[in-house]
Order: sequence, then C-alpha cells, then structure tokens
Amino acid sequence: MLIKTPAPHEPHPSEITPHRVYLNRRTTLAALGLAAASPLALAQPTAAGGGKLAKLPGARSAVAGAMVLDKPTSYADATSYNNFYEFGTDKADPAQRAHTLKPRPWTVAVEGECAKPGNYDIDALMKLAAMEERIYRLRCVEGWSMVIPWVGYSLSELIKRAEPTGKAKFVEFTTLADRAQMPGLRSGVLDWPYVEALRMDEAMHPLALLTFGMYGEVLPNQNGAPVRVVLPWKYGFKSAKSIVRIRFVEKQPRSSWEQSAPQEYGFYSNVNPNVAHPRWSQASERRIGEDGLFAKKRPTLMFNGYEAQVGQLYAGMDLRKFF
Ligand code: MTE
Repeated sequence: MLIKTPAPHEPHPSEITPHRVYLNRRTTLAALGLAAASPLALAQPTAAGGGKLAKLPGARSAVAGAMVLDKPTSYADATSYNNFYEFGTDKADPAQRAHTLKPRPWTVAVEGECAKPGNYDIDALMKLAAMEERIYRLRCVEGWSMVIPWVGYSLSELIKRAEPTGKAKFVEFTTLADRAQMPGLRSGVLDWPYVEALRMDEAMHPLALLTFGMYGEVLPNQNGAPVRVVLPWKYGFKSAKSIVRIRFVEKQPRSSWEQSAPQEYGFYSNVNPNVAHPRWSQASERRIGEDGLFAKKRPTLMFNGYEAQVGQLYAGMDLRKFF
C-alpha cells in the first residue's frame, strides 16, 4: 500500500494559547518555581474529571498530533462504557465491579533484553518524566470511538532508561491477573493474563503514551489504574490496562486477542478503514456521546487520523497481510 506523507502538522489557531492566558500561566508557574523547568504551560485539564480521585495535572503536550481538536467525550461516558474483560464482558461491568482492584502498592517489572532491568514502584515510575496532557482519539475494533484527555509521558522515556539491547525487537506488556481482585478471570473468554505487544519502533514513537491519568486526575480503576498504555493509531485493544510487566523480546509475541482469534485480530491492529474485520466493516464509527436518532456515523480515518505521524512506520508493508 502506498503511504501518503501529508504536510507537517500545523497548529490550528485555537491550539495556540492566547497571549494573555500565556502570561497568566507564566506568573503562576513562576510562583511555583516551575517557569524555568518547563517552557510549556501547566494546563488546566481540558475537560472536567469526576472530582473524586487524586488530581494529576499535565502540561499541554508539544508532541505533533498529541492534541486533537475533537470535542472530548464526557468523563461520565469515558468511565462507564469500558472494555476490561478482567471485570466482565459487558460495557457496564468494569465501572460496577472494578472497585475491587487495588492500584497501591503496585510494581511494574521492566525486564528481558535490556542493560538496565528493574522493578519500578508505581510512585517512582510516575516521577520518571514530566506529565503531559494529550487529547487522543481512541477507536475500538467494535466500531465506536471516544476522545479522551489522557495524562502521562511518552513510553520512550522509560524504554530509553532501560537501555534495550540489539536483540530487543519487540516490547511485550503483561497486565495484572489476580482472581482475588478480578472477578472476570473466572471466565475463559481469554487466556489470562492479558498480553499485548508492539514492535520496538512503534513503542518508541512519541505518541505511544505511558498513561497514569485522564481528565486531570489519576486513572479510575475501570480505565486501567494505575498504569496503562494508549496507542492512538491502533484499535483500542492494543492499549493494555493495569500493566505489571514490560518485557523486551527478540521474537514477536502473540497477543491475547491474536491467540484467541488469529483470523480476526492481527499483531499490528492499526486502525484501517480499508481492511474490514472478517465479520464487519471498519469504514465508519459511532462516537460515544453522539448517539441518538439523528447522530451520523463518522468515517474512520486511516491510522485513526494519525497517518502524518505514524504512516512511515509501515511504509512498504502490505497492510492487508499485516492487519
Ligand atoms: N486491557 C486489559 N487488561 N483488559 C482488557 O479487556 N480491553 C481493551 C483495552 N485494554 C482490555 C484492555 C479494549 S478492547 C479497549 S477498547 C480499551 O482497553 C478500552 O479502554 P477504555 O475503557 O479506557 O476506553
């Protein structure tokens, strides 16, 4: 498939902070002693959170493509319509049942083909790099999408610190599988634990986000507390929740969904309106919150609208074969 390379991302006028707001923020930052540390304004969250969880502000991201202009989905929708099969297969299950997940204490093991493996306590992991707010589209393979202001930092920050060896070709994410905390593990819907993986250059892409929060607050349990990844150009299931292990490996891992239905879910799972799922089209999507009698479906965009940023990762690949 031929990959277009559109002109570099140009900011929309509304993406540019008005001068008065910028100056106000500089004053606040100076008062906090942060002005020298960060040229980026410490943003108010773009959309309101639930107000019940700890605040986790992030500076507005300067990564190209990180702040889409679509209207964010409401916090109520983003936290009540979820896929987190460890808590059940119904969209309402995670919000109702994930209160049993304990996000502290929590350790993330970084291991495999790297010079500096380690066990990171979650609070230390959160301090590894500056938190940014990023507004990403998330397109689920089932045909719906949301727009969520996430908080975190590029996964590459952690990967660089681990110093992967030349043998590290893929990064594998393993998520928590604890029957005491996760009632859905009793079902055989997937082979637990939930495993996902990326090619090394995908994982190093600045848009790949190690995510600790959303809407200016820490992640609610149902959205993958205390740490998940978000890969905005891939179908939602690649964005593994509640991660406990990140491993560098030489051989391409088999993700849980690939294992359960290889003819339906490939390793790459890049959002692609031109390649249908064997049982349904992927050409359009329903934006959560826009339902109703007159709500139109939206056309799904190549790489979920992030083609300018990630298209080159797949140049020359047959995306029908590597779906
Ligand atoms: N991670 C784990 N551990 N278990 C899951 O079932 N579901 C995936 C992904 N990560 C899933 C997971 C799917 S199918 C989607 S669409 C997204 O999480 C949903 O993320 P959200 O609920 O925060 O919108």
